[in-house]
Amino acid sequence: TKPAPTKSAKFVPNYDESKIPEFTLPDPLIDANGERIDTRNDWESRRRETLLKFEHHVFGSMPTQRRIHTEIVRRDPTWNHGKTTRYELTVTLLPLSESNEQPDTNQPGLDLMVLIDVPSSASADNPVPAFLGLNFQGNHTVTDDPLVRISPSWVRDRRDATSRGNTPLDAGRGVASDRWPLSMINDRGYAVATLYYGDIDPDFDDGFQNGVHGLFADWIERLPADIRPGSIAGWTYGLQCVLDAIVQTPALGIDADQVAVIGHSRLGKTSLWAGAVDPRFAVIISNNSGCGGVALSRRAIGETVGRINTSFPHWFCDRFNDYNENENALPVDSHQLIALAAPRPVAIGSATEDTWADPKGEFLAGVHASPVYQLFDKPGLVDANGQSPTLMPAPNEAYPDGTITYHLRDGKHDLTEHDWKRYLDLFDRVRD
Ligand code: GCU
Repeated sequence: TKPAPTKSAKFVPNYDESKIPEFTLPDPLIDANGERIDTRNDWESRRRETLLKFEHHVFGSMPTQRRIHTEIVRRDPTWNHGKTTRYELTVTLLPLSESNEQPDTNQPGLDLMVLIDVPSSASADNPVPAFLGLNFQGNHTVTDDPLVRISPSWVRDRRDATSRGNTPLDAGRGVASDRWPLSMINDRGYAVATLYYGDIDPDFDDGFQNGVHGLFADWIERLPADIRPGSIAGWTYGLQCVLDAIVQTPALGIDADQVAVIGHSRLGKTSLWAGAVDPRFAVIISNNSGCGGVALSRRAIGETVGRINTSFPHWFCDRFNDYNENENALPVDSHQLIALAAPRPVAIGSATEDTWADPKGEFLAGVHASPVYQLFDKPGLVDANGQSPTLMPAPNEAYPDGTITYHLRDGKHDLTEHDWKRYLDLFDRVRD
């Protein structure tokens, strides 16, 4: 086992394609015994082998049991000139029960504040599809609504008016609204549910005292140290709990069988893992997710495994450190993370200036995941002729027609209206 590099290790990213080390990708259709997987049934019976490799080498394990308590704390049918019903929920994650008793709601739990905008035409009898995604700065930052609760959770100090130290402030209201075009999404007939990722687990290396790690400290302690969950596994667990709340609250008017999980960047890594562990997510959206997300680790271009483990030692399980500057030894690569979603639709969004996240590696992962989709008679990532594309699309163009889609937006690392339109188009098409 290689030791984790120290913070001071000098890292110079490579952006030169000719300097990419030679590599062979693991074949997603060869099982643990070296046998070829050539039917849908074979894949379904062996899929878990791939899932466990990601769990034990990349993300770490979380409990499978989930217990929640949901409270609707606000319902505002007048939002957006009456076109939207705005909800705020508190979803409380409860400690694990050793037996299978009913949740004891008097025990302390972990409160997640969820903001949900539902088109006002929706009802329990006429539910609508939805996007569920974590946000980076708090629900109050996605809208300028002065009533949205400000979470008391730790936020990163951006040294601007949005926080005092690690405490969020009123001045942050609406600052992230460009990333969350809520009324456009509602106008197209979709609900949006979002919550602050730091409510689930604070995004700093706190030795896992807080958030879901604190809630499940005893359970986690019993795991072998190198497969204890990182924050991405924790955020994933929180997303699953919010999906549970949606399932259990039909009055929201959301069709729980039609919930897409969306995430940008570190939260795009999270949406991919959520789609892999939870088959209830109907569509999986990875926006600019890069290293540890959809970019092929073996290309080692832009951000590398060693680099991400150095900068963000709390995101993955400790075993992922074995692959620092050693990507070829990783038993999986990101095309298989996509394949775990098969046959469900996966959208990959890249941006031209986001070279740190390796747009080409994000594209190639979609190409190499496609053989698994073909077992389900789904096209995977295809060009306009239904063929596997060899070249990336031009800036602002896409391969929008397959079950895996890829688009390349012109511009920086971000989640924009352009990206949302691509994702809405995919969701429209797969629901037709
Ligand atoms: C950093 C990190 C990326 C991550 C990004 C983000 O740039 O290196 O891996 O995706 O932060 O979450 O914005």
